[in-house]
Amino acid sequence: MNKAKRKAIIAGNWKMNKTPSEAKALLEEIIPVAKDAGCEVIACVPYVDLATAVETVKGTNVKVGAENCHWAESGAFTGEISTGMLKEVGVEYVVLGHSERRQYFGETDETVNKRTKAALAAGLKPIVCVGELLWERECDITEEVIARQIKLDLYDVNAEDAKKCVIAYEPVWAIGTGKTATADQAEEVCAFIRKELAKKYDEETAQAITIQYGGSMNDANAAELLSKENVDGGLIGGASLVAAKFGAIIDAATKG
Ligand code: PGA
Repeated sequence: MNKAKRKAIIAGNWKMNKTPSEAKALLEEIIPVAKDAGCEVIACVPYVDLATAVETVKGTNVKVGAENCHWAESGAFTGEISTGMLKEVGVEYVVLGHSERRQYFGETDETVNKRTKAALAAGLKPIVCVGELLWERECDITEEVIARQIKLDLYDVNAEDAKKCVIAYEPVWAIGTGKTATADQAEEVCAFIRKELAKKYDEETAQAITIQYGGSMNDANAAELLSKENVDGGLIGGASLVAAKFGAIIDAATKG
């Protein structure tokens, strides 16, 4: 990471874990381990936990994010949540295009792009996830896949808005598998993403955007991953559900 150039962000992605009362209990453990953080700390939690989470972190340095949002303001979209609903609850960030949404729920680059634009228009900060499948890496098309996702997911997003986005590089083969990309692999793709952003926008914009790594990041490997110039933080699943582990990752980002 390079804190002189951009914000370091450690974000937990709780996925479909924790009821509201469990969320409150976990956040009460996270707040003390995050209080001296030298980076931004976010907990992205299930929709039904959001109100409790916002209330619990009030007055602390922990921010709250949602795990998705719809692009329409309202309407016949059963099961979806609008940006206005998130704003009113007090949410600041929203994860978009997570590989689990793409894999299991038919999310496409087109819908990720629509959600990203809607989130930005509502004043939410999107954490846009990109990443290649194992098969794509084996076929040596990682860069093509990532370049395509960056172009499509950020289509029609201007430089000023792009700076409000966080990009999370999450190789799909490393998510929840215990297989972490090596620090060099993470750096290689995060640097490539920055190069693509510079091509799409300009160097100054690319240098300002936080690019996280995600995929089995934990207390043991965070320091090495975060030591890389272009890895500006982490989007953390499993390890974000254990306050001590999440705290150790925050410490690694604080020292990095
Ligand atoms: P993981 O998940 O840390 O459990 O691999 C990361 C993510 O899906 O964001």
